[in-house]
Amino acid sequence: MAKILIKKPKKAIVGGREFTIAKTKKYLITDLTKDFHTEYGVISKKDLSKTGIIKTNKGKEFAIFDASFIDLYQKIKRLAQMPLLKDIGLIIALTGINKNSRIVDAGAGSGGIACFLAHIAKEVTTYEINEENLKIVKQNKEFLKLKNLKIKNKDICKGIDEKDVDVITLDLPNPWNAINSAQKALKIGGFLVNYSPCITSAAEFVNAIAKNENFIHLKTIELIGREWKIEKAAVRPASKQTIHSYI
Ligand SMILES: C[S@@+](CC[C@H](N)C(=O)[O-])C[C@H]1O[C@@H](n2cnc3c(N)ncnc32)[C@H](O)[C@@H]1O
Repeated sequence: MAKILIKKPKKAIVGGREFTIAKTKKYLITDLTKDFHTEYGVISKKDLSKTGIIKTNKGKEFAIFDASFIDLYQKIKRLAQMPLLKDIGLIIALTGINKNSRIVDAGAGSGGIACFLAHIAKEVTTYEINEENLKIVKQNKEFLKLKNLKIKNKDICKGIDEKDVDVITLDLPNPWNAINSAQKALKIGGFLVNYSPCITSAAEFVNAIAKNENFIHLKTIELIGREWKIEKAAVRPASKQTIHSYI
């Protein structure tokens, strides 16, 4: 069990205008067996099992509640180029991944796609050729306690051991080299998803798929998600954000 601890932002009126002088603070607590130290004072370990409002030894209020999967997921170790949540959400929506789905994924990288899908699906097997990245995905699997995630140190382009797979997700430099493996592993009617951060790579993949009569290209989507700042009269797109990626 892990807990989320949140301190609301602190506001002040200066010259008739409201300013945020301390932003929202959010902590993930994974060890509930000892006191938790914050810059606002100490939360005693007996309060860590509670849900609701608690105070530090300095009288500062925090909200405390059970951490959900997404709270833990947001703390996993990340290598560069981990897909964004909006993109993982679209993969799930378009392929209908559910509790009965059997999935193969490559490359594992830090396990961003594999771990999220394992949280939803029956079984996920992720392939990775880089041993350093394998260590990270194994740590993330442990941290998220995902028993249905299998990790293989194997080149997906050289073959997939699993058969009758519902969905295969690819996030690799040369995804077209994995098409033959994917064809043999997918069930009839299964989905092959390619996630490419670069449109030239997406185009090369789609053109390779067009040459294989066993696949039908359904769609290529650029998914733009724009976060907004909404604070009284200040209503505008958030200043810093990642809005672009290709599936
Ligand atoms: C962009 S990262 C993948 C990120 C990952 N999907 C995630 O969610 O964190 C690409 C990964 O593919 C791995 N890779 C490249 N070619 C591969 C192959 N043929 N088979 C398996 N893994 C491969 C790389 O070592 C790298 O870790």
